[in-house]
Amino acid sequence: MWLVTGLAMLAAGGAPADVHSYARPAEVRVTHIDLDLEIRFAEKVLSGSAVLYLNRAPGIRAPLRLDTRDLTILRVSAGRSAGAGGAARMSEAKWTLGARDPILGSELTIQAPDDADLVRIEYRTSPEATGLQWLSPEQTAGGKHPYLYSQSQAIHARSWVPCQDSPGIRVTFDAKVRVAPPLVAVMAAEKLTSGPAEPGLFRFRMTHPIPPYLIAIGAGELVFGAIGPRTGVWAEPSVLPRAVYEFADMEKMLQAAEKTYGPYRWGRYDILILPPSFPFGGMENPMLTFATPTILAGDRSLVALVAHEMAHSWSGNLVTNATWSDFWLNEGFTTYIEHRIMETVYGRERTEMEWVLNRQDLEEELKGLADKPGDQALRIDLTGRDPDDGATDVAYDKGSLLLRLLEETYGRGPFDAFLRSWFDEHAFTSVTTDDFLAFLRERLMAKSPPVAGRTPPDLAPWIDGPGIPPGAPVATSDALEKAEEQAARWASGKAGARQLDTSGWSFHLWLRFLRALPESLEAVRMKELDDAFGFTKTGNSEILDEWLILSVRHGYEPAAAKLEQFLTQVGRRKYLKPIYQELMKTEAGKVRARAIYAKARPMYQAIARRSLDEIVGWPVPPPAS
Ligand code: BES
Ligand code: ZN
Repeated sequence: MWLVTGLAMLAAGGAPADVHSYARPAEVRVTHIDLDLEIRFAEKVLSGSAVLYLNRAPGIRAPLRLDTRDLTILRVSAGRSAGAGGAARMSEAKWTLGARDPILGSELTIQAPDDADLVRIEYRTSPEATGLQWLSPEQTAGGKHPYLYSQSQAIHARSWVPCQDSPGIRVTFDAKVRVAPPLVAVMAAEKLTSGPAEPGLFRFRMTHPIPPYLIAIGAGELVFGAIGPRTGVWAEPSVLPRAVYEFADMEKMLQAAEKTYGPYRWGRYDILILPPSFPFGGMENPMLTFATPTILAGDRSLVALVAHEMAHSWSGNLVTNATWSDFWLNEGFTTYIEHRIMETVYGRERTEMEWVLNRQDLEEELKGLADKPGDQALRIDLTGRDPDDGATDVAYDKGSLLLRLLEETYGRGPFDAFLRSWFDEHAFTSVTTDDFLAFLRERLMAKSPPVAGRTPPDLAPWIDGPGIPPGAPVATSDALEKAEEQAARWASGKAGARQLDTSGWSFHLWLRFLRALPESLEAVRMKELDDAFGFTKTGNSEILDEWLILSVRHGYEPAAAKLEQFLTQVGRRKYLKPIYQELMKTEAGKVRARAIYAKARPMYQAIARRSLDEIVGWPVPPPAS
């Protein structure tokens, strides 16, 4: 009995089991997937097959257990791969699909012969697949063709590929994707043909082992624009020129990261610009970051997001959190490296502003988590919870602060060398928080003395404790303080809006300014600001988001049309959540929120919908009669 329990608890390599996966990789491990999928826009389904290559633990007889969600399984066969040139011998295999768990989906259990090293699953996705979004032509920039994209992180790959959907698993893959011309299919992988191999057929290959949450697909009226020799952007034709302009510094950013963290190991680095309903700012799909069009500000001001997704090429994609409880190993490290890239390319002054603004975000987030001390720790318990809900600013900004503290304690030189060896020595593996702590103690803390005046940090309050531990680094920015001063001058009535000194302000200062305004403001005072600075018509989505929150809070009606337009076009969860939360604070706001939500909800992607349903209280219960 102990043996069975032991196996259930431990994945191969002694890593703890992933509570978000039915897979038992200690018994059978999937190492490679051959995908053959047709994109059927008319039905909103992917249809085809996945061939899984298996690696069995010696002497263990066990069925293959996979993660699926809302897949229709048509047929399963299993067999042994043949030698070079020969065809695999496959025969029908028995399978069962478990009950659907609202978070995990359904366990697919396949009884394959003991010597089988291949399993072939013919299947079809559901139009409601949580990891796919099917957009109508009206939801695209061009308006003529439909668009499809995937979002597999955290546990949505299973809604379109039957797999061991755990970040502790790594697979390579080959894919054939069919889509009706003139649509173009892309994947976060190496493209094997420059155009379609034959009309409507695209082939891809990922030769580096990646966790399934990084498997990604897109299709639409897409064109490519080169930026550097190994960088470029995919977008709809009308969006492409703006995107090429915005991302001009991609190659510089890559070089900045490589200088400190070692070679970029993935070949190309491209960005796919999605329609505005994309629920995230960016998603670090390997070789092809997926990004919201809301970062196309026209002045390259929001490119920290590119630095962030690029940084994941080291922290996350190369060295991966083994479970979603270790999410900070992905996002905290990435946020730290993002700042380092920004510092190299754009200088310390700008980067310090970004640290300060992130700290403010973190403090806000912690206020919202006041009654959830467990979620204020870097390592969090997600048992019985959807990992998408565990993704808070704590992982990002408390995590990056810990790395900055280590940098400041041991000196940049030793810390950089340490981090580089962490990536080199764990490349293409999945790691836990304990793995990191052991490596940190052995390879940095035990070896390098702290710089003068510093003492080794106590790690426990960071890793498992709430709040921001004492001794956390504090970034400061004179420029941001000036913005705050201007806000205070205006608030106290010492100066009118037009008399403020705002010349040459970057969006950081505008954000700080808006955040420093008084808790309560008359609508006429909002109008004064809007007349002077044109916030309602700003093209910068960060400023607009902040402004729209304020306009709700202070009942500023002239922004109402813009608010509705924004909420019905943009699906980025980070922007939508605070606006809906603000609306829900008053009775009139609730009515308005629900009216807009009823219109906008069909446009939102499943992940955003889930978060917003909760905030808006959807579906609205019928009035008691
Ligand atoms: N990997 C995340 C997005 C994500 C997190 C998807 C959790 C699903 C679950 C991505 O790298 C990210 O952090 N994006 C941020 C941008 C960043 C600059 C903070 C976003 O989308 O806002
Ligand atoms: Zn990230």
